[in-house]
Amino acid sequence: MKPLVLTSPEEVRSCVAQLATSGKRLALVPTMGFLHAGHVSLMREGLRRADAVAVSIFVNPTQFGPKEDLSTYPRDFEGDVRQCESAGVSVIYAPQPNAVYQEGFQTWVTVDALSQGLCGARRPGHFRGVATVVAKLLALFRPAVALFGEKDYQQLQVIKRLNRDLELGAEIVGLPTVREADGLAMSSRNAYLSKEDRARALALSQGLFEAQKQVEAGERDPKMLMASMSAALARANLREDYVAVRHAETLEVLEHLEAGVPARALIAAFAGSTRLIDNLGLLVR
Ligand code: PAJ
Repeated sequence: MKPLVLTSPEEVRSCVAQLATSGKRLALVPTMGFLHAGHVSLMREGLRRADAVAVSIFVNPTQFGPKEDLSTYPRDFEGDVRQCESAGVSVIYAPQPNAVYQEGFQTWVTVDALSQGLCGARRPGHFRGVATVVAKLLALFRPAVALFGEKDYQQLQVIKRLNRDLELGAEIVGLPTVREADGLAMSSRNAYLSKEDRARALALSQGLFEAQKQVEAGERDPKMLMASMSAALARANLREDYVAVRHAETLEVLEHLEAGVPARALIAAFAGSTRLIDNLGLLVR
């Protein structure tokens, strides 16, 4: 069945009320569109965990910096609708910016410590925009479950925190990163890459997988892992934004790895003018 396409908060409210009356559990998958297999994995898991899935498609202006790619962000609404339909999505919410940020808008959600450092350092205000729009979506849809990708790992931790702190009541589910056959993390922004940059971009996932192997071989010093990730980027001539090894939930800096402390390796680099991010869990036995 073709998904129902809604464009205003009022329409969403009445649709959500109807679903609630018929006793249906709702899953929400927030996206910015230009959907790929990573997004589809969230929709399919949503369908396993709930009776109906809603997908929001909204290129959220408040999470883009003044020099970022808001105006060129890739869009393909018709293609997105087809992918949602074949994944069994019931509702698409595709509002215009003025339906989300009405005249006089001035209420923001800031998640303090988790938004600092890593991507937050390079993109001031980014997580304030993400947290605000996601809080608004969770408040509007009141889903039983909302699904997000580990691909945007800091974002996932920010969203888990705001859901708890604001008592929005959704179960926040994080799902593994879907990768291309050669390891590159799928991303709508991969569409920007030239053939050469696409090949060089592999250094991000390769650097992470090498770090993971070193941990399996007994390395416990985050600095050694970071040096190895930096070297992978340098070999591919990619400009490093950051390499990091952090506590997997608090994102605090780890001085050494130990069993029982969940750790995450995170990496960000520029391929030409395209900024790419990736991350991987580090299992310490
Ligand atoms: P967008 O980049 O469209 O991503 C939507 C969701 O898909 C996010 O939860 C993201 O982590 C997930 N995702 C992206 N690539 C993935 C991959 N390769 N594997 C698995 N999941 C992947 O993230 C955003 O939009 C926005 O910031 C949003 C949360 C919608 C707020 O505007």
